[in-house]
Amino acid sequence: MTENDLPDSLIRTMRNARRVVALTGAGISAESGVPTFREAQTGLWETYEPLDLATPEAFERDPRLVWEWYEWRRKLVDAAEPNAGHRALVELEYWLPDFTLVTQNVDGLHQRAGSRSVIELHGNITRSICSAERTPIDPGLTELAPPPCPQCGASLRPDVVWFGEALPAAAILDATESARSCDVFFSIGTSSLVQPAASLPEAATRSGAIMVEINPEKTPLSSRADYVLRGPAGEVLPALVSAIYS
Ligand code: OAD
Repeated sequence: MTENDLPDSLIRTMRNARRVVALTGAGISAESGVPTFREAQTGLWETYEPLDLATPEAFERDPRLVWEWYEWRRKLVDAAEPNAGHRALVELEYWLPDFTLVTQNVDGLHQRAGSRSVIELHGNITRSICSAERTPIDPGLTELAPPPCPQCGASLRPDVVWFGEALPAAAILDATESARSCDVFFSIGTSSLVQPAASLPEAATRSGAIMVEINPEKTPLSSRADYVLRGPAGEVLPALVSAIYS
């Protein structure tokens, strides 16, 4: 998708916008080679379903297995680089008076691209916490899987939201308040299936925001968006930023 494919009315709206929110999902990291949550597992993990590993019960049952799965995913993420879509959102943050980035991703690629304020709804795989006290702990280099908390001895776990767990209260509150008070809301690279993130676009449109979806595929949100930019985020976002600010 090039700048010429973008609707002039959207470009004008963005030039007059003050408060913009972008919600991102696994799709924005797809062009960095990070497999989305629902893509088939590879290698020795292909016999496991993410849903069987990313739960408190799975960690209770086999902490070593779950810890090693996250170590495998951390290595995948460490080897990945932010792409042009991540970098275009850094530019939007630079140009706009008030820009809020809300992500469902746990890969930390927005921060590595240079985004300064990121609301992480589902945590961040690069951080570990104590499974009992939930305090952030850097495990350092260790063969133990999972390592024990140096303060209380309980096992460390990844600082991510597992299925069946509540999201960080402050994160969802801040994200909802931003959605309710923005001029334009972008839903980028998400299947819009998982709550409560999937309710944020509705909160924005109910408050009068223009809603834009960026996704190569149709989603349940597509029919309610004011604009649907059908393409990969790594192409659409740089074209959009260039059309607005060039
Ligand atoms: P999904 O894997 O459900 O959806 C990825 C979306 O990205 C799909 O709609 C794809 O069409 C789209 N997509 C693929 N490539 C793209 C590209 N290059 N540019 C833009 N879009 C692209 O991932 P999420 O919607 O993020 O939750 O999943 C939401 C949550 O479901 C995850 O955070 C995870 C999972 O349960 C937790 O881990 C708590």
